[in-house]
Formats: sequence, C-alpha cells, structure tokens
Amino acid sequence: MKIAIGNDHAAVDMKLEIVSFLESLGHEVTNFGTDTKESCDYPIYAHKVCQAVLEGEADRGILICGTGIGISIAANKHKGIRCAVCSDPVTAKLTREHNNSNVISFGARIVGPEIGKAIVSAYVNAEFQPNERHLRRLKMVEDIENGLDFENN
Ligand code: RB5
Repeated sequence: MKIAIGNDHAAVDMKLEIVSFLESLGHEVTNFGTDTKESCDYPIYAHKVCQAVLEGEADRGILICGTGIGISIAANKHKGIRCAVCSDPVTAKLTREHNNSNVISFGARIVGPEIGKAIVSAYVNAEFQPNERHLRRLKMVEDIENGLDFENN
C-alpha cells in the first residue's frame, strides 16, 4: 500500500519509527516531513499529505502531531478527506471499516511508539465495510461538505 505520512516538530522521532515499521511490513511510504524539531506549523504537513491522498498518489495518509488533534482539524478541512484521531488500535480499525477514513492521526505526546505501531497496523490492515448504513451516513457527511441539506428523520 502507498502511504503518505506527515508530522510537526512534536512527532519527528515517532514518525521515523512509524516509517521504518510500515516499510518493514512492505508498504511504500512517502515522508512529507517535517524532519527537524524546529517549531513549525502542522497545517503545512496536513495539507501535503491530504493533497497526496486526494490526487491518488497515496492510498492512505497518516498524520502525527503532539495530540493528533490540530493536524486532524487541518486535514478535515480538505473536501474528500475523512481523518480520525486514533489513540488506540480498535478505533483505528473501526474508523476504516465504518467511516472509510482515508487519513488517521495520532499524538506523539499521547501514545508511545508501541501503541503508535499498533494503531497504524490496525488501520492499514482494515478495509471499509460498504454496507447500506455506512454508505448512507457517509453520503450525509458528503452532503454537509457540499452545503446540501438532507432529510433528517
Ligand atoms: C505543538 O506544540 C502542538 O500544539 C501540536 O503538535 C499539536 O498538539 C496540536 O494540536
């Protein structure tokens, strides 16, 4: 699988561990940085990863900042991106299965490297379950994104 990864200064060491881990599993990883611990702005890296996913250069995206939250907020401002903050592997699996998340994020100041690896492993090994209720809800999310209203019943 092609995976785009990006992070801010709070997550450089974690990112390097996750890149090595994913490569050891046979994935093709594109690292969009940052690679220094100098303070930087996480929206830059969220944007690079989301562009790669939206343009089809990557199958999925992984974003890491201090909490995973700021970078996910930035990611979710991109039309077509469904990014979930995951602090455990069960959430990572379910957000792919139920929400068809094409990006996940997590916090390098929240989870340690072993949990981080378990999160990304659960995520890349999960697939969307396209049953009627998930598809219906995702279509409603898409309608909100497109400024359309839907019947709320
Ligand atoms: C950077 O200090 C920190 O604010 C950032 O990594 C992230 O946690 C924001 O949500």
